[in-house]
Amino acid sequence: MAKDSKELRQELARVMEQQSMFQGKPVNLYEPIRYILSLGGKRVRPVLALMACQLFKGNIQEALLPALGLEVFHNFTLLHDDVMDKADMRRGKPSVHAKWNANVAILSGDAMFALACRLVCQAPAGRKEAVLDAFNDLAIGVCEGQQYDMDFETQEKVSMPEYMEMIRLKTAVLMAGGLKIGALLAGASEKEWAPLYEYGIKIGLAFQLQDDLLDLYGDEAKFGKKLGNDIRENKKTYLYIKALELLDEVDAIALEQEFASPTLPFGDMAKIKKVKDLYEKVKVKEHCGKAIGKLFSEAEGALDELAASPAVDADALSALRAFGSELLGREA
Ligand code: IPE
Ligand code: IPE
Ligand code: MG
Ligand code: MG
Ligand code: MG
Repeated sequence: MAKDSKELRQELARVMEQQSMFQGKPVNLYEPIRYILSLGGKRVRPVLALMACQLFKGNIQEALLPALGLEVFHNFTLLHDDVMDKADMRRGKPSVHAKWNANVAILSGDAMFALACRLVCQAPAGRKEAVLDAFNDLAIGVCEGQQYDMDFETQEKVSMPEYMEMIRLKTAVLMAGGLKIGALLAGASEKEWAPLYEYGIKIGLAFQLQDDLLDLYGDEAKFGKKLGNDIRENKKTYLYIKALELLDEVDAIALEQEFASPTLPFGDMAKIKKVKDLYEKVKVKEHCGKAIGKLFSEAEGALDELAASPAVDADALSALRAFGSELLGREA
């Protein structure tokens, strides 16, 4: 019987507790690692990996450590991302660089990358090389995406295709790569994992659009991050790019002006309000919601292709579909 997301999270929590690699000295290296991992989070990437493994009738026990590696990798990216985005809140608590400092966040993050690699290398011998290749691919993708994200803060014009490529790299390749790793661990062939990778890209894109939306319209207590940070940091999000497409010339220039220079100290509330008003003039929130829905149904379409395959466990496919819906309705 295939496990659902809740059961898979429990399995992950169990193996995470058994690890001694997060203990050690110096305390200021390991404490931030334990801190960020203890703050929870949705565990989306390892759950996806385990779901892919059970989808192709693999043994999820053999996939637990590599899956945990994906979560440790994700948490490493959060430590560095919060430094880069000057974000002081994460999962409802001070982010690591706010609680300690940027140097601590950088170094603990570096250690987490290596620890993640160690975990991913716990893949069974015959599958280790392919898994490690997939892991390196996704890690490089995330770095490329993160650099585009930062470049775009000061790049005057960013088109929708450029934005979609940036989020494919910074967010979707980790989800798709996680699914691929889970499938590889179950012994799936390229023909088998390819539609699942496609699914991961589509839900990853939808996931990032939702993150952009929640950054402005979410409930801070549930989202766990300070609202409006993307506007404060002049992030070229889906909301910004869509608004520029739809606003008349005068308003479009006003919006560009708001994003043309760094936000002044204490100037963020006024800026966020101005930008939000401009967004609302052209109902950007609704447009974003529609785009999320479209990507989600495209993702579902990729899964339909798998339903007919004899290599696929029908129960596990239902569990994956249910997890996808869970993500679509998320507020955190
Ligand atoms: C945050 O990821 C980074 C993005 C790609 C938007 P999550 O929303 O999965 O964060 P946690 O792990 O649940 O906290
Ligand atoms: C997420 O981008 C990408 C990575 C963390 C690699 P964001 O910067 O939007 O993520 P949050 O909103 O800080 O979680
Ligand atoms: Mg970022
Ligand atoms: Mg960020
Ligand atoms: Mg965000």
